[in-house]
Order: sequence, then C-alpha cells, then structure tokens
Amino acid sequence: MKKTIRDLKDLKGKRVLLRCDFNVPLDNYGDILDDTRISAEIPTIKYLVDKGARVVVCSHLGRPKSSYDKYLSLFPVAVYLMKAFPNKVKFSRASAGPDAEAEVEKLKDGEILLLENVRFLEGEEKNNPKVVQELCKLADIYVNDAFGVCHRKHASTYGVAVKLPNAIGFLVEKEIGVFEKAFKSPKHPFVAIFGGAKVDDKISLINNVMDKADTIIIGGGMAYTFLQAQGQDVGKSIVSLEQVGDAKKVLELAKEKDIKILLPVDHVALDGTKVVKTKSLCGEMVGLDIGNATIKMFTKEILGAKQIMWNGPVGKYEDSRFKKGTMKIAKAVSKAKAYSIVGGGDSVSAIKASGCANKIGHLSTGGGASLKLMEGKPLPAIEIIDNK
Ligand code: 3PG
Repeated sequence: MKKTIRDLKDLKGKRVLLRCDFNVPLDNYGDILDDTRISAEIPTIKYLVDKGARVVVCSHLGRPKSSYDKYLSLFPVAVYLMKAFPNKVKFSRASAGPDAEAEVEKLKDGEILLLENVRFLEGEEKNNPKVVQELCKLADIYVNDAFGVCHRKHASTYGVAVKLPNAIGFLVEKEIGVFEKAFKSPKHPFVAIFGGAKVDDKISLINNVMDKADTIIIGGGMAYTFLQAQGQDVGKSIVSLEQVGDAKKVLELAKEKDIKILLPVDHVALDGTKVVKTKSLCGEMVGLDIGNATIKMFTKEILGAKQIMWNGPVGKYEDSRFKKGTMKIAKAVSKAKAYSIVGGGDSVSAIKASGCANKIGHLSTGGGASLKLMEGKPLPAIEIIDNK
C-alpha cells in the first residue's frame, strides 16, 4: 500500500510540493473548456490547506518545447484556483529557480502557490537532476496527485519523489483503487469495450482483460485488423499489418477460454467521397463507424453487464458523419445497471458530449495512464512512492 497524504503528520508550516495534472483544454482566450482535472484536485489541495501546509502546486499544460509559451501558461488555472480558495492563491511566473524560491519564501501557512508550467523547464521531461534539484529546493515533502501523468518518468513526477519524503494524493488513491478493484474482484458479466484508431497499444490490453472479462467488444479503427485476421475483406480500412497475426492469436485464445469477442457486423464507410452503409466492406471503402446492426448487438451486451470498462471510440467520432456509433455506445454504457469505468481522453469526451457523464461510475482523469493500468502495467510515478 502506498503512503497517502493521510499518513503525513505535522503538515503545519511544511512546504508541500503537490504535482497535479492541470493539463486542461483552453480556448484561444485562455478560457478553460473542461475543468474536470482541476475540480478533481480540490479535495487534496483543501486537505493540505486545512492542515496548515504551504502548498506549492506544480503541473504541466500541453507539450511546450522546454521553453515559455504564452498559450500554455497555467495562469488561467491560477485564476480558477483563486476563485476556489479566495485570498489564498498566488501565481509564480517562474516554474522553479530563485524567483520561485522567493515566492515560496513568502508563503504563509495554509496558502497556495501555483508555479508556472513545469514543462517550460528544460530537462523536466528527461528527469534531469538539475531540474529535480531546483524543484526539491521548493519543498520539504512531495505529494503526487497527477494521475494523468503517472506513466511518465519526469523530474516532477519521479525524480522529486526519489529525493523527498512523499505520498500520493486523494485523486491518485481513488484512480488506482478503482482499477485495482475492477480487476481483482470484477462483477460479472464484465464487458470490456475497446476502440480507437490504433491497434498497436491495445493487444496487450486485451490480453490483460481476457482473464477477467466475459465479453470483449472491439470497435473503431482497431476492429479492421481483427476482421482481416478473421479473413474478411475490409476494403481500404485502416489495418495494422504487423498486428494481424497477434489479433488472430487473441481471437483463438478467446475461443479456447470461452470468452465472447464481438466485432462489427456492419459499417458506415466512405466510398470515395460518398458515405455508405454496408454489411461488408470491399474495394475502395474505408470503414469509419459501426452500423445499426452492430450498435444493436453491442448495446444488448452492454445493457446486460454488471461491470463495464470502456476505452476508445468505436468510430471516427470527431467527424459528425461517423459519430453515431460512439454516441450510442456512450448512451448504452450510461443506461446499463452496471459499474462503469471510462478511461482515455476520447471516450471520456464522448461520454461528456452525450450528456451522460453523471451516470458513469468512474470517469478517469488519465488517458495514457489509465491505458497502462488496464494493460496491468505499473505506473513509475506511483511505484516510486514510499509504501506505508
Ligand atoms: C494527458 O493529457 O493524458 C496527461 O496530462 C499527460 O499528458 P502528456 O501525454 O503530454 O504527458
């Protein structure tokens, strides 16, 4: 069991470096378009504030090229936090170094300082010892609550934890708890739904879920590799040729283990410039969404589930011509009388767009990180945290 902030004693007056994942979408005016990742951090920040800690918050935003980028400043997040914690929040224009140290020096017990985007520091993503040292100078204790970035071995997610007394925050505790429970004691029938364009990173995920799930639904671009593995014509749909053999093995293993794998039985495709509905793909056709018969078949299975895990859209849902399948799956997942876990940026956005987010058991704040957990792989930034 990893240490959590509840295990940290005597926080009063201590400088706590809290790594959050405030990688939120912003519009061109710097307005926050989705505050899920910020609101999810409020309980941890509040706990530290209430205990009288001097809370130094750091986060990345986007993927700047190791230098200042005005479009990726965390200032809009500071404004959000100022509203959530009136008169307690300051913003440091520096991500680390002497200017940030001076700001930390001025902090009083129970106050919060948000540092500028940590990825403006050269070496952050390479876990550079100089960056680690600079960040360590700002704190006595390190708390990792940045679930979305726990699969990264960066200075602010990993290097600092090596050097400072540490713990995880409430969000990371909740996220890992949800996935652990879902895999260790799944409720049956357990239906796992996988989609997304690329099959490459999903084979190990399917293999990991195979022993726990009763049904595996495969949609999206990755389904065409499986259909080809079955010997079907998929026209010009996206296929990962190197993965056809692995997909075949997955299908054979599922048969051996008596696990149902459901693949699309009809499609919405682009045939040249024309959108067509078809049972079988051929020629120039590119499959881009599941068809009505598939929606019906997948929905029936989802509605009968007691536990659902969903990662990846079942079509090219960002194009309005091909979003119906994903929206229908989102509705079905939210209607099912099942405990549902949705992970991965695109499926979470689809659930939100369908207006059903409040009916989902757990919407993960992690994209890549939740994928790794579904694959059964360890997250380095959590592994490095001290055990109780
Ligand atoms: C995410 O959006 O999944 C996390 O914030 C991680 O971002 P990254 O992929 O840029 O490391």
